[in-house]
Formats: sequence, structure tokens, C-alpha cells
Amino acid sequence: MPNLVNYSTDLDVAVLTVENPPVNALSPGVPEGIAAGVAQANADAAIRAIVLIGGGRTFIAGADIREFEKIHAGQGGGLGAIMSLLGELENSGKPVVAAIHGTALGGGLEVAMACHYRVAVASAQAGQPEVKLGIIPGGEGTQRLPRLAGVAAAVNLCAFGDPIPAAQAHAAGIFDAIVEGELRAGAVEFARSVAGTKPPKTSERMEKLGDAAANEAAIAAARVEANKRMRGQTAPHAAIDAVDAAWRLPFADGCKKEAELFEACLKGDQSKGLIHAFFGERTVAKIPGIGKDVPVMPIRSAAVIGAGTMGGGITMVYANAGIPVRMKETTQEALDKGMATIRRNYENSVKRGRFTQEYVEQRLALITPQLSWDGFDTADIVVEAVFENMELKKKIFAEIDGIAKAGAVLASNTSTLDIDAIAAATKRPESVIGHHFFSPANVMRLLEIVRGKASSDSVIATSMDLAKKLRKVGVLVGNCRGFVGNRMFGPYCRESIFLVEEGNTPERVDGALYRFGMAMGPLAVQDLAGLDVGWRIRKEYKHLEEAGVRHAELDSLLCEQGHYGQKTGKGFFVYDANRKASPNVEVMGMAASYAAGAGIGQREASDEEIVERCVYALVNEGARLLEEGFALRSVDIDIVYLNGYGFPAWRGGPMKYADLVGLGKVCAKIREFGVRFGHPFWKPAPLLERLAAEGSSFSAYDRGKA
Ligand code: 3HC
Ligand code: NAI
Repeated sequence: MPNLVNYSTDLDVAVLTVENPPVNALSPGVPEGIAAGVAQANADAAIRAIVLIGGGRTFIAGADIREFEKIHAGQGGGLGAIMSLLGELENSGKPVVAAIHGTALGGGLEVAMACHYRVAVASAQAGQPEVKLGIIPGGEGTQRLPRLAGVAAAVNLCAFGDPIPAAQAHAAGIFDAIVEGELRAGAVEFARSVAGTKPPKTSERMEKLGDAAANEAAIAAARVEANKRMRGQTAPHAAIDAVDAAWRLPFADGCKKEAELFEACLKGDQSKGLIHAFFGERTVAKIPGIGKDVPVMPIRSAAVIGAGTMGGGITMVYANAGIPVRMKETTQEALDKGMATIRRNYENSVKRGRFTQEYVEQRLALITPQLSWDGFDTADIVVEAVFENMELKKKIFAEIDGIAKAGAVLASNTSTLDIDAIAAATKRPESVIGHHFFSPANVMRLLEIVRGKASSDSVIATSMDLAKKLRKVGVLVGNCRGFVGNRMFGPYCRESIFLVEEGNTPERVDGALYRFGMAMGPLAVQDLAGLDVGWRIRKEYKHLEEAGVRHAELDSLLCEQGHYGQKTGKGFFVYDANRKASPNVEVMGMAASYAAGAGIGQREASDEEIVERCVYALVNEGARLLEEGFALRSVDIDIVYLNGYGFPAWRGGPMKYADLVGLGKVCAKIREFGVRFGHPFWKPAPLLERLAAEGSSFSAYDRGKA
């Protein structure tokens, strides 16, 4: 077992320093090392108190999540050593002081609460984020936290998982003191001040446990909030149950209850999905073949072309990251309109309490609206967000080529066009790349980074690094029509429209997918994006459509009547002035008469069929993208869908969901749809077929490529 805890002394105080970079997780060796240090200090008559501190950038940030992956894979692992440590800390005869900087999260906070005292620097944070991994605190946190902070504060921390700053933790009673100046010295001084007194055990404290009426109200309020904020998830309710037990049961019985609930959550698919998403978000930043040696260019200034829906949103993204940004338009009117939208968005954020007025003023001061090319010659990045028209984009890139400084990144926000063709309009295709933001750009976390065939490694590395600075999740994708997200979205939408054409109301189709966990149903999303977008594209590519193959028609029929979705107040649904949707009573009549003419049978589909048809359509196209190399790994596809398309994180993404269902079952169902519907697109992707035949999974395929 590695030695991950350093033992040192400061006169009569022992200092145990956890040395397990980068985040001092409780990996094998850490709990054992702390326990050994506590025993050593207790055995040494010269030592009167103990300080537990994290080396490097943080206190302990939690249990080692890789251990949970091992449990999921049936490869052992568990909390044994952590659980023993908690008792050993609390039972130490000499007081133990946790000295906290960075983040005391999950098992880290639980270890700190088993110590007798906690001191922290003002910048520290504390939290029980386990629910974000589909589990609950499993290190007695649901029982100690209410004893320190009361039931109401504890239930919020455990059920919703958001960390709180040190000052709040101090006010709540979680931290005993805030240390000014150097943490280690402050903690040693604190430890010395309590040496020789009887160490207080958190498990024995009762004074914060409150009265039944207040506790019941807090628990009930948390349940309502969990249903709203974490719809479909089981862990928040399990965490609430565990905290509820803290004031009803003696400590040991409460811990037993916590252990049962923890175990049940860990065994469930939701933790598999959420842990996959946690690591996935970090995996996508790693690009095979592009190592740390590839130079990343600093982006200190930006210039955006176009002040429309996307240009305005992208400008806000740069301003929000503190990067000065110019925004260029063709007419004063368009520029004013773009700036007015930006101001309105910021005002709404102030009204909702998301930003302060001062913050907004600072952001607005970073934006320079303009009609000229002024300053484009010094910008580190130029982002084009003009109309989706190849000739226009080529013209603009040729112009940028003549103006931008050498080495600047030239990015296009195109959602469908060929990046290589755009790059070919310049004499420096290596500098050109796609930065596909999602609407609204200032809100959606996803950024598809589209690699052209000439895009240089440095431009790719710079884009990935920039995504993080812009607080986006950057996913590198290949240059094909629709890239990863929208290419998969096509078959998903197609099935949703087919289902309506077959006699299922939009409310039924969207309802089934909403209950599955999607943030919005596919038909409502199409109404939001504008049905006319797909209609126009379809008209443009009509010549490529295969004769005799069924195509979704109903959206086009709606467009022909001037119903483009939300923007015209009517689409698959009808929208009032507040964009509240209600059924469009005309849709089913249109669907029925179209279906009669086209020979499409009418039948009611179950929720199960609706979900299978729509989600497996995503999975099958995802498998094709993977095999064709347009997605690096299946997890990249998952991260695209979790951050750009409202796929429920607790299902891990479409590819992980397919793994959890079992690829054999998914493949068999796709074949069955092929027989039933006779559509060529219901042919299993070769990769899916192969993995299913081998009894394998997309995750295993990813590991094989790593
Ligand atoms: N276990 C294992 N690895 C972890 C980890 C953990 N708890 N926390 C972070 N890591 C890894 C990341 O995967 C990443 O690895 P990589 O470099 O190979 O990609 C590396 O540490 C650095 O992480 P970040 O890139 O996320 O670093 P940041 O500085 O941006 O964030 C952090 C640091 C806030 C600590 C963030 O990593 C985080 O939120 N971690 C998870 C914290 C958590 O959920 N703790 C609870 C765990 S469950 C638990 O404790 C159960 C208990 O109740 C028994
Ligand atoms: P939009 O129509 O809202 O805005 C385009 C803007 O570009 C207009 O304000 C127009 O005046 C301006 N413009 C046109 N030619 C210009 C020029 N030569 N110089 C400066 N400005 C010029 O369009 P939107 O929706 O913002 O789309 C822009 C790009 O983003 C397109 O390529 C689109 O495919 C892509 N995109 C759109 C998404 C969406 O949901 N709307 C999502 C992701 C990408």
C-alpha cells in the first residue's frame, strides 16, 4: 500500500498531511495512512493534539470515485477503510483538528466532521456532492452534518449537492473557525489551544437536532424541491431519507440506515450513468495524439462577426470570461438590435439574481460594437457567426485572411457547412476550425469543436483550452454534415414525427420522452429551434433523398401553412404570449389525412416504443459516427448529448444508456424495427452489430481505443 500521508510534528502537535494529488481523494493508502498517523500521535507522550491537512491545492475532495467504478465492474473496492478511519478519528484521545483549504467534499467533509474541530481558510468550500454522482454521503455524513448544522441546512447540502463557501459553513456550525493567514500555522495554534481538553465527538452532539415540527417541514420542503430540481433522480430522495433518520434515530441506527441507502444507490444504474458523466466530462478534454507539448495560444482578445442570435450570445460568452470582444455587423440597425438583445439578456440575469449590476457593467464595458474591421488585426481569435450560407462564409473568411494577424484562430460557428470548404477560402487553412456553440450560446454548456482536415494541433489544443476558460464543455468532433450532435438529432426527430404521423399526439410523444428524463420532448425542441430551418435544408437537399424511403413530412406541412413553431406561435404545439405550450388541435387532422394518402397505418405506441424508437435512433447514428471516426469515443457523444440536447445525466448519455440496456437487446430491437417498418435506416450500424455479437459495450470499445 503506498504511503500517501506524511507525518510531521510542530513541537507538541502532530501534523498529518495527505499527499495524494491532484485532489487528495481517499484512495487506498489515504485512510490507512491517516489512521496510522492518529495512532502514532496518540502513542507519543510528547504530542498533545493532531492537525489533519491536505498537501497541494486542496483538503480531501472525497472518496476516490474510481473505486466506485471498480464496484460497478464487480472488481472489489468499498468504503471499509474509510469507515474504520471515521471511528478512529472520533475516538482519538487527543483532539484532531481538520485544517481545510480548497474543497472539503463528500468523504473529505465526512472525515473532517469525524475530527473534533474544523478550521478553514476563507476561500475554502464544503459540500456533500454525492447526489451528483447518483449516490448519497456514505461516510456517516448524513448523520454528523445535522448534528453540526441542523436538519434544514444538512438536508439541503446532502440532497442537492451544491458546496457552500467557508463563511457560510462557519455560520452554520460546520467550521469552528476561519483562519486568517497561513493555514497550517493557524491550525496548529488552534490545536494547541484545545490540547488537554476532552475532545468533543460530533456523533454525541444533540443540540442542533431541533424539534420535530421544524425538521418535518424542512424534510418535506426538500422533497418538493428535489422533485423540481432533480426530476427522475433517486439519490436526492435517498439522501433526504438518510438525513431524516438522523434526528429520529440514535447515531448508530442512523448510520445503518445511511449505509443501506448508500448501497442501494451505488448498485443502481443512475450512479453508473452519473459517474460515467463525471469522468466523461474530463475525458473529452484529452485528445489522443495531442499532448501537453502542443503549444496553447493565449486568447486575450476576440472579434465576432455577426450580432444575430448566435453572434450576440457568443459575444456574451467572451465578455463573461473577461475577454475583451469586438462585435461586427453590416448595418447600424442590426448592430443596435444585437446590442439591445445583449443588454436585455444581462438585465434579465440581474433581475433573476444571477449577476449583479456591477458585474454586468464590467461585462458590457468589454464589448465593442462596430461596423468596421478595426482591431480585427490584433484579435487572438476571430469567430464568424453570419447567416448559414457557404458563399457568404467563404467571402468573409477570405476577408478575415487578409486582416487577422498571423497565428490567430479563425473559427466558424456554422452548424451544417463543410469546415474544409470554408478553410479553403483562406491561405491558412491550418488556422481554421469550427466552434459550434448551441443556442442560447451564453447558457448552453456545449461547444462542438470541429476539426477540419488542415486544422493544426495547436489550433485544436487552443480551442479545447479556450472552451474551459469560456466555461464550456469542449468536445472535439469530425467534419461531417451536422457534426455529431445534429447528425444524431436528425433520426431522433424523424422518429418523433413518424410517431405523430402514425396517430400519436405530440403530447403523448413528448410526454414519453420527458418522463424518460429528456429536458424537453423532441417536438417541442423542434418548435423552439424553428421548423422552417429543417424545412429549408430539406428543400435544398431534396435531390439527395432516396426514392421510396419514408421521410418525415408533417413538419414540412406545418411550414407550408406558415407554422414555424414558437416564432409564429404555432407548430406541433400552440404558444401563448408567454411561450406556454398547449395542444395544437389541427395537428392530428393534418397527420391523419397525410397518413391516409401516404398509406401510413395508424396505431397507438406505448411509452416504451416511443422511447425505444427515438433513443435507439440516436444510438444507431452515434455508432455510425463512432465507426466513421467523427466522434473520438462513445463518451464524447454522451457528453455532447448531456450538455447540448438535454439528455438526462443520470442515464449517462445515449451510448451509456445503450450499454446499460445491453447492446444485444438494443441491436435486436433495431432489427425488429427494420422488419416492422422496412426502413433502411433501421439497419443496425455495423459497429453496434459487432459489439452486440461480442457481448461487448461502447465503454469497452472506448477503453480499447485509449
Ligand atoms: N476521485 C477520483 N478522482 C477524482 C476525484 C475523486 N473524488 N475528484 C477529482 N478527481 C480527478 C479528476 O477525474 C481529474 O482527473 P484527470 O486529471 O485524470 O482528468 C483530476 O482529479 C482533477 O479534477 P478536476 O479536473 O475536476 O479538477 P478541478 O480543480 O477542476 O476540480 C474538484 C476539483 C472540485 C475537487 C472536482 O474534481 C470535483 O468536484 N471532484 C469530485 C468531488 C466529489 O464528488 N466528491 C465526492 C466523492 S464521493 C464520496 O466522497 C462518497 C463518500 O460519501 C463516501
Ligand atoms: P441570425 O440570422 O440571427 O444572425 C446572423 C447575423 O449575421 C445577422 O445579424 C446579419 O446581419 C449578420 N451578418 C450577415 N452578413 C454579415 C457580414 N458580412 N458581416 C457581419 N455580419 C453579417 O443567425 P444565427 O442564428 O445567429 O446563425 C448564425 C450562424 O450560427 C449560422 O451559421 C448558423 O448556422 C449558426 N448556428 C445557429 C444556431 C441557432 O440555433 N440559431 C445554433 C448553432 C449555430
